[in-house]
This record gives sequence, C-alpha cells and structure tokens, in this order.
Amino acid sequence: MELEGATIVLTGATTGIGRATAVALAQRTRRLIVHGPQSPTQVTDLMNQLRAGMRAGGGVVYLQADYGELEAVGRLTEGIRSATDRIDVLINNAARPGAPARTLSRDGIELTLQTNYLAPVALTTTLLELMPTGRIVNVASATHLSATLHLNDLELARHAYAPSTAYALSKLALVTYTCWLAKNLPNPSIEVVSMHPGVIATDLLHAMFSIGGDSVEYAAANLLEVASLSGDNGTYYDERVPAPPNPIAQDPETQTRLHQLTTNLLGRRA
Ligand SMILES: NC(=O)c1ccc[n+]([C@@H]2O[C@H](COP(=O)([O-])OP(=O)(O)OC[C@H]3O[C@@H](n4cnc5c(N)ncnc54)[C@H](OP(=O)(O)O)[C@@H]3O)[C@@H](O)[C@H]2O)c1
Repeated sequence: MELEGATIVLTGATTGIGRATAVALAQRTRRLIVHGPQSPTQVTDLMNQLRAGMRAGGGVVYLQADYGELEAVGRLTEGIRSATDRIDVLINNAARPGAPARTLSRDGIELTLQTNYLAPVALTTTLLELMPTGRIVNVASATHLSATLHLNDLELARHAYAPSTAYALSKLALVTYTCWLAKNLPNPSIEVVSMHPGVIATDLLHAMFSIGGDSVEYAAANLLEVASLSGDNGTYYDERVPAPPNPIAQDPETQTRLHQLTTNLLGRRA
C-alpha cells in the first residue's frame, strides 16, 4: 500500500503512539483524518503541528469520539463520511488500559472490551463501504498471546477481573476479529492485519505495567511499515515481523462465535 497520496483514518491520534504516527503521516499522506476522545479545542497544538507538516494540497481533519459511548462511534462514522468518500488506510489505534476496577460503559458494557474491541469493530464495519480497495491495520498487543477469550463471559462478570486481564482479553478479541474479517471481507481488494507495535513508554503501558519501553517514534515507524505492506491479508505482526497469533484467534469456531456475540453486544444498549 502506497501511503504517499493516500487518504488515511487514524484513531487515537491525540497522544502516545497514535500522535507520533499522525506526525509522521502528515509528511507523507495527502489526506489525514485523525480521531481522539478530546474536544477540538484541546487538540489545537496537535492540529497546528500536523498542518505545519503537511505537503501543499494536503488536508487534515480532527474528529472527536469517546469510545465509551457507542453512539459516539456512529457520529464518528458520519464525520468521516462527511470528510471523505474514500478511505485507503484505516488504522485502529485508539485503546485504553483496563480500568482499575471492572467498570461498565454508558452502554452497559464492560468498558475495556467496548473501547478496545467493540468500538473499532463498529467503526470498521461501517467504514468498509468507503473502501473499494485498501488496508486496515488493527493495533493489538502481544499481551493477547497469554489471554483467554471467555466466550461465555467476554465482559468478565464471572471471571476474576484485573486491568491487565481485561486489556489482554480485548486485544485477543481484536486479533480474533482480524482473522475472521480477513476471510469475510466484502471484496478481495481490501486487506486487514493486526500488530503489536512494540513495548512503548506511554501512559497506557505505565497504567498497567511497571516497565520501561521504546519511544513512540519507534512504534510509529513499525506501524507505518506494516501499514505500507501488502499481500498479507490476515497476518499478525510482532512489530514488523509476521508472527503466529494466539491459536485461539485462528480457530474458525471461535471466530464465528465471537462474531455472533459481537453482533449481539453491538445491538445492545443500556
Ligand atoms: N504502549 C505499549 O507498549 C503498547 C503495547 C502494545 C500495544 N499497544 C497499543 O498501541 C495503541 C496505542 O497505545 P499507546 O500506548 O500509544 O497509548 P496512549 O498513549 O494511552 O494512547 C491511546 C490513544 O487512544 C485514545 N483513547 C483512550 N481512551 C479512548 C476512548 N475512550 N475513546 C477514544 N479514544 C481513546 C487516547 O486518547 P487521549 O490520550 O487523548 O485521552 C490516545 O489517543 C493501543 O491500541 C495500545 O493498546 C501499546
């Protein structure tokens, strides 16, 4: 996928890896649509930085949506549709650490699962119609490798809750969805992959783990490298290297069951 001249949607662009990726993309792409949970007035510094980096004729748009509210994802889709009639690359990067204690969203759904899994799935599903060709990159995490996908308890109502457990489960769901979507894309000109961007020193990492990490620029370079590849539909990347995902994610029965549960959850409101 050629990023130069592309129209790119990047979620979670306000801080961390997403922000560094947006800054790097501004210098390469033609049209950049960035998202975050913050209001437009809170991101004027970011937008000034992105506009200053864009080539002549390029454009950048910011859209706000808090994934803790599914209706906001619908409004985000509408905002993207107003900004463009075609997307070349969709990067689902936005995510949150597991909440300190199990928390329900405004939709009555466990907040980590909704933010890191259901919201990007809802966004992707509705944006596919703007992608006659293109590429979807789902930013997952190596933590998914040690997670369990409780298909009878995705929201951890009955299993022990811990922030890192909820986070890893949400990322395993995202990798499983990626494997499912790779086989169920509306046309063969679209490719979808998932990736671990690296262990990166960000607020998200430090909210759950007391470890250091590489720079956000390092992760952004990994992300852009994976975004620019092709011919790899369904692949999981550990940084830039194709790697086997959790076998759970590759199990067709699990994928189908998760898809059914996801459809049910997205149809549910508090
Ligand atoms: N850091 C790591 O070591 C690491 C490792 C593996 C995977 N990842 C993945 O890499 C991606 C980027 O993470 P990061 O480390 O850069 O974290 P980060 O610095 O916390 O950035 C996360 C981004 O998602 C946004 N976000 C958070 N809650 C949201 C919500 N409710 N609705 C919409 N957007 C929301 C944040 O917005 P605000 O900050 O503006 O509120 C920010 O733009 C995530 O998918 C993460 O799971 C990171």
